[in-house]
Amino acid sequence: MLLSLRIITPLFVLLAGVQAELITKNCKLISGSDSDKNALNLLEPLTNQNFTAEKPEDGYVYIFQVCGDAGGMKNAGLVQKDKKDGKLVRIGNYNQTRAIRGSDWVLLFYEGGDKYENHCSQEPRRAMIMISCSTSTKNAFSVVLEDNQKDQGCYYLFELDSNAVCPVIPSKLSAGSIILIIVFCCLAVYLTGGFLYQRLVVGAKGVEQFPNYAFWSEIGNLSADGCDFVCRSRGNREEAPTYRGVATEPLGEEQEERDDHLLPM
Ligand SMILES: *[C@@H]1O[C@H](CO)[C@@H](O)[C@H](O)[C@H]1NC(C)=O
Ligand SMILES: *[C@@H]1O[C@H](CO)[C@@H](O)[C@H](O)[C@H]1NC(C)=O
Repeated sequence: MLLSLRIITPLFVLLAGVQAELITKNCKLISGSDSDKNALNLLEPLTNQNFTAEKPEDGYVYIFQVCGDAGGMKNAGLVQKDKKDGKLVRIGNYNQTRAIRGSDWVLLFYEGGDKYENHCSQEPRRAMIMISCSTSTKNAFSVVLEDNQKDQGCYYLFELDSNAVCPVIPSKLSAGSIILIIVFCCLAVYLTGGFLYQRLVVGAKGVEQFPNYAFWSEIGNLSADGCDFVCRSRGNREEAPTYRGVATEPLGEEQEERDDHLLPM
């Protein structure tokens, strides 16, 4: 138990240290719910990267960062860049984030972008990034659509394939087998340590090298005695004949009396 605590405690300290410097913490969640935080935490491996995508038919490049300034624009997680003049339009801010998590995907919302000029009742632009599990190591970012032909709820939709959001395959080891392994390790350490100690420090020879030999042989003798007492019947049989004449009669009666209870009424 002590051994496992010694291993596990530093692990927690290490995890807590890593937790403190998560880059996804730069994202400000509109709702501070735990499910949003958990979904966002999954995206940590995708931080500090520029993802770019363009639609061949229009002259824009889209730049996306997870909780970082896209295209160098402060607080913008997703920007649209005009390929001709390099003009930037803010599509969504990472200080106004929502994140929804499914079994093998995370849907990320960046709200509060630049306002539409003519469409969508001039509401702020908004980006939705669908991040789906893909087992290939390469992340693929692409534009899906821009939905701006309505009065409200317009959005830009993007897609990112990544292995960051793939479900984690649970460990095959159950708690029971882990405890067994720890017990075996302790036993092995005890035996080899004790053996070396007896041999090198105490200078024992033969079976005496076995750690705590006296104690264990005492245990062995005690359990042998116990077994002898419980299991061996010869000792009783030798004494039995002297009583047999007297003992059998009342015993038989008792037996019959007891049987009576079992008869159906
Ligand atoms: C992302 O792009 C910006 C400018 O567009 C650049 O300053 C920054 O170094 C890039 N970051 C990475 C990790 O490539
Ligand atoms: C987010 O950042 C933008 C741009 O810097 C700023 O205008 C806006 O007020 C910020 N919103 C929040 C909720 O912090």
